[in-house]
Amino acid sequence: MAIYLGIETSCDETAVAIVADGRQIMSNCLLSQIDLHKQFGGVVPEIAAREHLESINDLIDLAMKQASIKPTDLDGIACTTGPGLIGTLLVGIAASKALSFAWDLPLIGVDHLIAHVCANYLKNELSPPFLALLVSGGHTQLMHFTDFAQAEIIGQTIDDAAGEAYDKVARLLGLGYPGGPAIDRLAAHGNANRFSFPQASVDGFNFSFSGLKTAVLRCLEKLEQPWPVEDVAASFQKTVALTLVNKTLKAQQFTQSPKIVLAGGVAANSTLRKQLLALSTVPVIFPPIELCTDNAAMVASAAYFKQQGNCKELTGDKQNTDLVAYSRVKPSRKTRNKFADCFPLTAII
Ligand code: KG4
Ligand code: ZN
Repeated sequence: MAIYLGIETSCDETAVAIVADGRQIMSNCLLSQIDLHKQFGGVVPEIAAREHLESINDLIDLAMKQASIKPTDLDGIACTTGPGLIGTLLVGIAASKALSFAWDLPLIGVDHLIAHVCANYLKNELSPPFLALLVSGGHTQLMHFTDFAQAEIIGQTIDDAAGEAYDKVARLLGLGYPGGPAIDRLAAHGNANRFSFPQASVDGFNFSFSGLKTAVLRCLEKLEQPWPVEDVAASFQKTVALTLVNKTLKAQQFTQSPKIVLAGGVAANSTLRKQLLALSTVPVIFPPIELCTDNAAMVASAAYFKQQGNCKELTGDKQNTDLVAYSRVKPSRKTRNKFADCFPLTAII
C-alpha cells in the first residue's frame, strides 16, 4: 500500500487529506474561508494566504490523527503547485517542503486541474483513456487523458470560466459568493424556457462565456423589479449546460474516448449532470458533490498516480527544485499536437 498526504491551498480552502493507493480516503480535512470572503463578494488573495497560514498546521495534525497513522507510515507528501493564487499556493508548498524535509519523504507537486479530474478515482473504479470536462471557478477545459495523471488540453475557454460566469451572474442577481450553488437551487424552481440567451459560437472545442454574462445583464436592465430571479437562473443554467454538453459530445466523438469524466466545482451542477447523462452515448462519470470543489484528497490521489507513472520528469524527490508556484495553466512541456489541425490550443500539463 502507498499512502500520500496531500495539501491544497490554491484558493480559499485550506485542505489536508491522507489517501491510500490513490483511491481510498483515510482522512479528508477542510477549512473553507467562504464566510470570510463573502463580505467582499469574492476571494481577497492576501486574506486567503494569511488564513491558510493560521490553519495549515492544525489541519495537518487533524488529518494524521483521523487517519490514525504516523509519519513513518507515509510514502510521500503532495501539494498543489498551480494554477492558483501565488500567495496562497506558497503556504501549501512551504508546509509540504517542511514536512518532506522533517519526515524524510519524497515531495510531489501536483497540478490543480489534473487533481480535480483525479477526484474521480476516489469513488469510481475509473481508468484512462477518457475525455474530461474540467469546469471550475477559474478554468474550463476539455482534456484528453491518455494516462492516469497526464492529459492533453484539446479545448478551453477564451474568456470567462463557467464557474466565473456563475459567480458574475449571481452577483448581478444579488445572490452573493459563490454563485453556483445559489443559482442551481433557484433554477430548480424556474422556467428555463422563459428567456433565450445565446450560446457563443467559438472555433474548435473552445468555449466563451463572457457574452452570456452580458446577455443576462441586458435582459435584467429591461425587466421591472422584482426580477423573476428563478426564471433568469433557470434560463442561464440551461444555456451554460447546453454549451458545455454540445462541445463535450463533439470532442468525445472526435477523440473516440470510451468515457466522459466531469470535474471541478461546476461538475456539482444538477442540470449539467442531467443533460450530459441524457445525451451521451458513452458512460458519464462524476465525483460525489463534496469532491467536486477544492479538497486535498484529489491532490493525494493525483500524486499517487503520478508516481505510478514512473516518469522521471513527474517523480518527486526531497530536493524537488522544480516545485515552484505558478498562477496560470502550465505552458506545454513538449508538443504532441496530434490534433493540430482541429485544436489551436494543445498542451501537455
Ligand atoms: O473547483 P472549484 O472549487 O474552485 C476552483 O478551482 O476554481 O470551483 C468553484 C466554482 C465556483 O465558481 C462555484 O460557483 C462553482 O464552482 N459551483 C457551482 C456549483 N457548485 C459550485 N456552479 C454551478 N452549480 C453548482 N452546483
Ligand atoms: Zn479547484
